[in-house]
Amino acid sequence: MDIAREAQKLLEENRRTTDGHQYTVPSKEHYPYQWLWDSCFHAIILAQFDPESAHAELRSLLSKQFKNGMVPHIIYWAPGILHLFSWGVEGTSSLTQPPMIAYAAWEVHRRSPDQVFLESIYPALLSYYRFLIEKRDPRDHHLVGIINPDESGEDNSPRFDAPLSAAHDISSHDHLELRKKLIDANTACKFDAELCMRNYFWVKDVPFNTILVENLRALGHIASFLKHGDGEHFANLHAELVANAMHEFLFADGLYWSASGIDYSPLRVATWGHFAPLFAGLYTPEEAERVVHTQLLDPETFYAPFGIRTVSKQERAYRPEGYGNGFSWRGPVWMAPHWFIYRGLLRYGYKKEAAEICAKSVALLERSGFRECFNPETGEGQGAHGFTWGALVLDMLDASGTSQ
Ligand code: GLC
Repeated sequence: MDIAREAQKLLEENRRTTDGHQYTVPSKEHYPYQWLWDSCFHAIILAQFDPESAHAELRSLLSKQFKNGMVPHIIYWAPGILHLFSWGVEGTSSLTQPPMIAYAAWEVHRRSPDQVFLESIYPALLSYYRFLIEKRDPRDHHLVGIINPDESGEDNSPRFDAPLSAAHDISSHDHLELRKKLIDANTACKFDAELCMRNYFWVKDVPFNTILVENLRALGHIASFLKHGDGEHFANLHAELVANAMHEFLFADGLYWSASGIDYSPLRVATWGHFAPLFAGLYTPEEAERVVHTQLLDPETFYAPFGIRTVSKQERAYRPEGYGNGFSWRGPVWMAPHWFIYRGLLRYGYKKEAAEICAKSVALLERSGFRECFNPETGEGQGAHGFTWGALVLDMLDASGTSQ
């Protein structure tokens, strides 16, 4: 199979235009709308061969920004069908997702410089990151909170079992019910983040905050390029503050752990969240060496025959087989975590280990196609078909030779 050609073809097939807004759906049948971090992945991939579409994707994503700066995690461009459940507002979801937009915009610009495009989206970008820093960190501790597991992009990850009061063997149906209840509670408190977080679900998630740090840096590059001194100062200052707070509040025993609630109770569930900080260079080289060798490359925890498990094999919640035909973040391999880890490994100079993740990703696609996720032990595909995240291998294949 010519993976590069297939990946490019899939992104073209999944392209849609509604009311003049062009975007890419993650999967034709399962996910027929626009999703936040998915669109950022699409833009990063499209930047290689179709920068105009990459621009269109990000413009559409920002077109439904809320007045308070939030960018919703789903835009229901085509009315009629509802995805899973209603999110308490019309036309979009009421939540956000890992804030990859500035990173994606800077990546697109890095490949095809376009000052006019950057200038056109800059106010929306700045207002989104200001929203996260100001509204999602009401106590000024420099860690941004998520108000629902879906905001992490890892909807049913066991990292969130304790704050949701979910059992380790909860069914996907029951898990969804808990998240629906959370949406109802958030709707009742009008998505006033401070109030909602304090009362229901307030997690300082490691991947989310890591992604924020790296995106604030990207926003800093954009602001500097556009000569917006204030924005550059805001972005760089907060990138540093969040990175430092992560080390102070979320780092223990050589690893980063997410935390919950006002008192930062650590959520001691071993997931790929340990490796996310590599993406933003948050471990020292010595800490990284330990994490890579004692965790990432350990077959008894994360290093599976077919990729990196999203949950350690040692966790009671670990379920490699997923849920029937559905997706699961309770163990299966997903391409986005592979991509973040890949980039993180390159950042620290682990070229051989990164190349292995790229090779495993390509092998999975050749074996099982562009599926949503994969059984780490058998390589079997799970969840949606024709799922776009597999196209991230294009970026891995490209980055191995160039950017880092
Ligand atoms: C699933 C994933 C989420 C993704 C969405 C669309 O819900 O958990 O991360 O954004 O599908 O692909």
